[in-house]
Amino acid sequence: MRPNVTFGMPQIAFGRELSFALDICEQAGKVAMSHFVRGITAEKKMDGTPVTEADKECERLIRKAIEERYPQDSILGEEEAEHVISDSQRRWIIDPIDGTYNYARRVPFFATLLALEADGDIVLGVVHAPAMSETYWAQKGVGAFRNGGRIFVSSVGSANESQFNFGSPDRILSRGHWDGLRRIVELTRRQRGYGDYLGFAHVFCGQAEAMLETGVYAWDLAPMKIIVEEAGGKFTDLDGGASVHTGSCLISNGKVHDELLNALKGK
Ligand code: IPD
Ligand code: CA
Repeated sequence: MRPNVTFGMPQIAFGRELSFALDICEQAGKVAMSHFVRGITAEKKMDGTPVTEADKECERLIRKAIEERYPQDSILGEEEAEHVISDSQRRWIIDPIDGTYNYARRVPFFATLLALEADGDIVLGVVHAPAMSETYWAQKGVGAFRNGGRIFVSSVGSANESQFNFGSPDRILSRGHWDGLRRIVELTRRQRGYGDYLGFAHVFCGQAEAMLETGVYAWDLAPMKIIVEEAGGKFTDLDGGASVHTGSCLISNGKVHDELLNALKGK
């Protein structure tokens, strides 16, 4: 189901871009699923992480569509060099498959992520998980949605009533946040190591209160920021900043954010 962004009401900013993003993510999802059912071979990138033919094909598909439709926009994606249009105030941010480890091992928790940054702000985001038949999206000032229905973060007000999700513990350790993680574990009611898009999605929908990621990139985080914000929650990096370009984040329902961030930092 698509948001009604072109008819009836006056056009809300970025509505056409959102429709475009939803369409192209759906097409990328079909590509990913066609490989998923046939069998997948992964290779190692220079940094040791896996990449599959589907990652590359999906990114090519999305880049080509953006270049045709929005030739004045810059493009940042995981699998190819940044396409910079000087003087452009807009940049598309692509993760063709988030959760490539899962994808390559036939675990269905993977998604195509796409966001648009305008004047430094993330203004729309899509998370399309074809094997789970779920699509999340948000548009600035309009709201956050899952498969056409509005979503909201939870109203839980304290860390000791919270479920805390986290990505890769090895990077939490190597980036010096292990003691912080221990403090959060002691503070919160329940913890789950759901990485990839899934740990974020639970926060978007009020099924968990917070999610921590470290050692990630803008393409892993850009749509997560706008979706959690439009669902009523909060996104910061681990220094409390708003950027998706600093390699880490805490997202939450907003109410428990400072308590968790302070515990992480030992304040
Ligand atoms: C990965 C996922 C994962 C995170 C990794 C990312 P990828 O994305 O987002 O949750 O912990 O750091 O690299 O590489 O599968 O697109
Ligand atoms: Ca990826």
